Amino acid sequence: MTYPQPTKSSPQPAPRRRPVGPLDDTDPGVHRGVLAADVPHVDVRGARIPALGFGTWQMTGAECARAVEDALELGYRHIDTARMYENEAAVGRALTASGLPRDAIFLASKIWWERADADGVRASVHAMIRDLSVDHLDLCYLHWPNPDVPLRETLEAMRALQEEGAIRHLGVSNFTPTLLDEALRIAPITALQVEYHPFLAQDDLRRLCQRHELALVAYSPLARGNVHGHPRLKAIGERHGKSPEQVTLRWLTQQHHVAAIPKASSRAHRAANLAIFDFELSAEEAQAISELARGERIIDPSFAPEWEQ
Ligand SMILES: NC(=O)c1ccc[n+]([C@@H]2O[C@H](COP(=O)([O-])OP(=O)(O)OC[C@H]3O[C@@H](n4cnc5c(N)ncnc54)[C@H](OP(=O)(O)O)[C@@H]3O)[C@@H](O)[C@H]2O)c1
Repeated sequence: MTYPQPTKSSPQPAPRRRPVGPLDDTDPGVHRGVLAADVPHVDVRGARIPALGFGTWQMTGAECARAVEDALELGYRHIDTARMYENEAAVGRALTASGLPRDAIFLASKIWWERADADGVRASVHAMIRDLSVDHLDLCYLHWPNPDVPLRETLEAMRALQEEGAIRHLGVSNFTPTLLDEALRIAPITALQVEYHPFLAQDDLRRLCQRHELALVAYSPLARGNVHGHPRLKAIGERHGKSPEQVTLRWLTQQHHVAAIPKASSRAHRAANLAIFDFELSAEEAQAISELARGERIIDPSFAPEWEQ
């Protein structure tokens, strides 16, 4: 089917102040590599989720494999894919080619909502593991809620796979506060993945995630490129020698229990997005970015739930 085109342990540790790598003079703010150890983690419910991950939507085949391999070389250790992206085999090739031990990588994938019935869940997870050439997923989300399948059926099927060792942690994506509340009453959810960027506030979901000690993983964290050149983000970035994209990713990952998974098809962008842990936004700057929220939801397909915010 066609997917619509357009839409930390607590408290947050102080950022490291030491320089994390050489700067490229021709592209201020871009740097060539970050030690994976310099990326903070969101530690929730026994999961250790790198706060900055690499999104792979709309990358397939050799281009995807090259991008993921390069991301791993740059220092990314959290890779986000999905059954629907049709790139799991490419991601798997990159994981193998990286030579990294499996437990060095936090690998997340998603079950497409049309396979939310118990048999669909089991078949999807087995297919993911096969295509990714791994023996388990670190995090498996239900990609979107499915109103035609009882949530209990989906989550209990995911829970059984967790008990069998195929999935380490359970997640849900594109859930409203009401649906997340319901999910939490059924199964031990570790992470919620939702659209979150300066133009779309997620206060209710953030509060819920904090109350239940879940990670909130921000997808489309750069508003699919729309943060580029925004005057306020640009002005704040200039104070720190960073781009609007870097300021946005720092704003997200400075928040309690929030991780972000930007996608970037160029190496320069991939490197820049990782070079965000050597500065810190002040409370005033973070507040000024939060005030940019204008209800701009980019990912809103026909099968989306009724959003509550
Ligand atoms: N759960 C869900 O339903 C769902 C939905 C959407 C997305 N996601 C996940 O979230 C990931 C990220 O979201 P997204 O792909 O929608 O959008 P995004 O990460 O917000 O934005 C990607 C866009 O920003 C550009 N970009 C990246 N870094 C940049 C930089 N440093 N400077 C300037 N431009 C930069 C990219 O350009 P280049 O590509 O040219 O570098 C690309 O055009 C996806 O890949 C996917 O893994 C999940």
